[in-house]
Amino acid sequence: APPLCVLGIETSCDETGVALYDTRRGLLAHALHSQVELHAGYGGVVPELASRDHVRRVLPLVRRVLEEAGETGDTLDGVAYTAGPGLLGALLVGASVARSLAWGWGLPAVAVHHMEGHLLAPLLEDPAPEFPFVALLVSGGHTLLVDVQGVGRYRILGESLDDAAGEAFDKTAKLLGLGYPGGPALARLAAEGDPGRFRFPRPMTDRPGLDFSFSGLKTRALTAFRDTPPDATLAADVARAFEDAVVDTLAIKCRRALEQTGHGRLVVAGGVGANRRLRAALQVMAADRGGAVFFPRAEFCTDNGAMIALAGALRLQAGERAGLEIQARARWSL
Ligand code: KG4
Ligand code: ZN
Repeated sequence: APPLCVLGIETSCDETGVALYDTRRGLLAHALHSQVELHAGYGGVVPELASRDHVRRVLPLVRRVLEEAGETGDTLDGVAYTAGPGLLGALLVGASVARSLAWGWGLPAVAVHHMEGHLLAPLLEDPAPEFPFVALLVSGGHTLLVDVQGVGRYRILGESLDDAAGEAFDKTAKLLGLGYPGGPALARLAAEGDPGRFRFPRPMTDRPGLDFSFSGLKTRALTAFRDTPPDATLAADVARAFEDAVVDTLAIKCRRALEQTGHGRLVVAGGVGANRRLRAALQVMAADRGGAVFFPRAEFCTDNGAMIALAGALRLQAGERAGLEIQARARWSL
């Protein structure tokens, strides 16, 4: 396939991400604006504020990325955007800007699934994993194990029946009195905790299958925290027990997914993929099986434009073209 240079735009939640990916030269430029501070005082993402901030940020970021890479609309081959799942108002900002730029520049547009972006993100790194592989997608909204045969060839092996892993981190962080987003804060606190003080269950690991359930762990954390007389390390010890249980559970299911598919490669993506203890546990598990685990760098684990530019470029190379409509879907399965 001929080399392609694609602009990618991500606005599905609380990060405005823009990037330029070239199938021959790799990632040419990327820029991100995080809205974390904007929403911090509310304890979660406020959809209307998110949409308005994307409107303010997206075009300046597009300009910056094009300038940095020395590219213009004339030198591009396509524009990719996150079409879902996510917050509808937020998605519509990126989708309408991307679709309009593509129309103005006379280029094809590609509507990308946000989770496909996450699961292809490890291909931004060197060495990139070869197909096929098992992908563990662990974000604030999803926990999925996917058998990835190639671009667009995905089979879901298992998923969370209740809270997503990141959601469980965020809710547990909240009940321990930590700020939003809770995942990184909880991980920092857990590093100081005693792993021997509490032991939480590894949900659904005692029966066959690759589905997950994390909401019970949050309840266990709440009970341990509320019913133990408070002391200086209680919050850290509960955080540690919670993190250990999530990490262990994910590692057990990943091993099972590799055994079931016979694949040697595991790819980890999504915000929780930035978790250090999870990375270490999966590395040990994969090494033990003689396989390999691939992670994107931490900034490409969380939402970003680079993964959307990459996914869009691969889809364009595969011949995919979206029509002139602006696509945005709050709910959309992979
Ligand atoms: O992929 P992402 O940026 O956004 C979604 O599409 O959801 O993932 C965000 C999630 C949040 O729940 C956040 O708390 C979690 O990833 N997260 C972490 C860590 N960094 C981010 N969870 C545990 N440990 C971390 N280091
Ligand atoms: Zn995401």
